[in-house]
Amino acid sequence: MKIFVDSANLGEIEEALRRGFACGITTNPSILSKEERTDFRTHIKKIIGLLDRYNLKIPLSVEVFTADPKEMVKQATEFISEFGRYEGINVKVPIGWNELEVIAQLKSRGIRVNCTCCMSFNQAIMAARAGADFVSLFFGRIRDIGYDARTIVSDVHRVFKEWSVPSEIIVGSIRHICDINEAFLAGADIVTVPPKFFRQMVSHPKTDEAVNQFITDFRDWMAPSR
Ligand code: E4P
Repeated sequence: MKIFVDSANLGEIEEALRRGFACGITTNPSILSKEERTDFRTHIKKIIGLLDRYNLKIPLSVEVFTADPKEMVKQATEFISEFGRYEGINVKVPIGWNELEVIAQLKSRGIRVNCTCCMSFNQAIMAARAGADFVSLFFGRIRDIGYDARTIVSDVHRVFKEWSVPSEIIVGSIRHICDINEAFLAGADIVTVPPKFFRQMVSHPKTDEAVNQFITDFRDWMAPSR
């Protein structure tokens, strides 16, 4: 059960790293486009610099930004020459017929792959069989068109276990706190979470009430009013 940070924002990533719970980082072209405009390579290197500072070798996904399979292989090769000194680097490739060939090629070269944009059971098993290290299922987007994301995750989890498939299931496209809980309960190995949910994940009004009561009771006992 691992939590990844679904962000390219240096401040948000660092907030998570400081708190010790982050087991990986996922980016995609849209996530990167939310940051200040720059050469994306410079930005990814800054994320790597941050991970180095915390002495971490956790997975960091960088996604190809083309629909042309040949260009995908070229971009992935460039990613590895630019960022490959960071052990956790992996290349995100969307699922698709020609994309399976991209995944297989990258794998044959020892490049770790996160097969992304999977919305169905069959896509997930094809991605895994092509050699993807991570298979990313998009919870929120699956639900957008009325499918049962929880059942898809639990079915994929069941066959991966049954057949000892080594790919890890990442659940992304998180829209609500309950998506995170449901994804883990359905068997996700990893949930990649937008940072806006982290604080909410540890907050509870009854926790605040209990902590305040303990402090007040103790303070009153230590210094009784005369
Ligand atoms: C995860 O790796 C994805 O990039 C991300 O969760 C996509 O989510 P979206 O549906 O919010 O775009």
